[in-house]
Amino acid sequence: GKQGYAYYMEKEINEQPEALKRILTNYLVDGSIDLGYEGAVDKMLTSFNRVCIVACGTALHAGMMGTHLFRKWLGIPVETEMASEFIYSDTVLDKDTLFIAVSQSGETIDTMEALKKAKKEGAACLAVLNVRGSSISRIADYTLYTDAGPEIAVASTKAYTTQLMIFYLLVLRCASLRGRMTEADLEHALENLRRVPDAITQVIAIKDDIHRQAKEVIMASDLFMIGRGMDYLVLLEGALKLKEISYIHSEAYAAGELKHGPIALITDGTPVIAAATQTKLISKELSNVKEIKARGANVVLLTKEELKADFAQSDEYHVIGLPNLDDEYMSFPEIVALQLYSYYVSADKGLDVDKPRNLAKVVTVE
Ligand code: F6R
Repeated sequence: GKQGYAYYMEKEINEQPEALKRILTNYLVDGSIDLGYEGAVDKMLTSFNRVCIVACGTALHAGMMGTHLFRKWLGIPVETEMASEFIYSDTVLDKDTLFIAVSQSGETIDTMEALKKAKKEGAACLAVLNVRGSSISRIADYTLYTDAGPEIAVASTKAYTTQLMIFYLLVLRCASLRGRMTEADLEHALENLRRVPDAITQVIAIKDDIHRQAKEVIMASDLFMIGRGMDYLVLLEGALKLKEISYIHSEAYAAGELKHGPIALITDGTPVIAAATQTKLISKELSNVKEIKARGANVVLLTKEELKADFAQSDEYHVIGLPNLDDEYMSFPEIVALQLYSYYVSADKGLDVDKPRNLAKVVTVE
């Protein structure tokens, strides 16, 4: 049951700290990352020179973050592709490619077909799944489980954050196996990951502030989310959450792309969520925020607590300060804030949060 929560989505948002602690317990053995299969996954991780990640929807967004991390910490060519497109694409795969399929249910037909194609072409196939024993697990060479427990709400929440956690562990393991990261850097990274569950609990603790911001947009027809780098990747998922359960047309844009078209949509009163958690991108993001403010946008800014001072002088927009982690790990608190925001918009509109129109939890038709 919902254990006192109004909706499964609210329950599942709240389950994230526990689910993430569980992954860390499962995959950290005596302080180092152990991906299981008695070292067989490690062996796979030392032999590829390209990565291709394929999934749908929220799992695709987690895969995009995986791509970002592989590029950042391994410096190898990586691409993400939508499963539905991959099936017909001419993407080059070979025996030196690591192919990763990501799926909560493990039953999504497009993702399964993509995996079959990759296997046929000789790629090493890894799956990141939540449901044990699902169809995709029987096709992949190895499966890393998110073990988030059953996700009932159609809008995916804990599946996403646990998929992210798997990608952090996978890429860090890879980087340390290949000597791309010192022991000290790895330890520092793991320290940040261990702080993630508490950081999420802290975001849940400021839910009233997030709720107040959500109330401002329940009548809106369009909403835009802007950010750079990792923030942009998180916003893609945030915008999907909001559109699927609140029916507000919401789109994420890379902030630097705004002036190449989308800024034409910003007029007086347009709601915009700007995310700026990446220290080196703050000044650029600030100038984008100024541009949209000048066109009348109502801006809510997501940043981290320690960067708040860079923005707080302005009373022109509302600032939400997220708990401080190193920039590379801010994706976790950031998405939880956006999950809560979407949840409140949907609930306050009186919609069926857990069962949005036209959507099914598992998509078994192409
Ligand atoms: C969005 C959502 C969908 C799924 C997608 C893939 O909240 O739930 O976008 O993420 O249908 O499903 P799985 O992960 O089961 O392959």
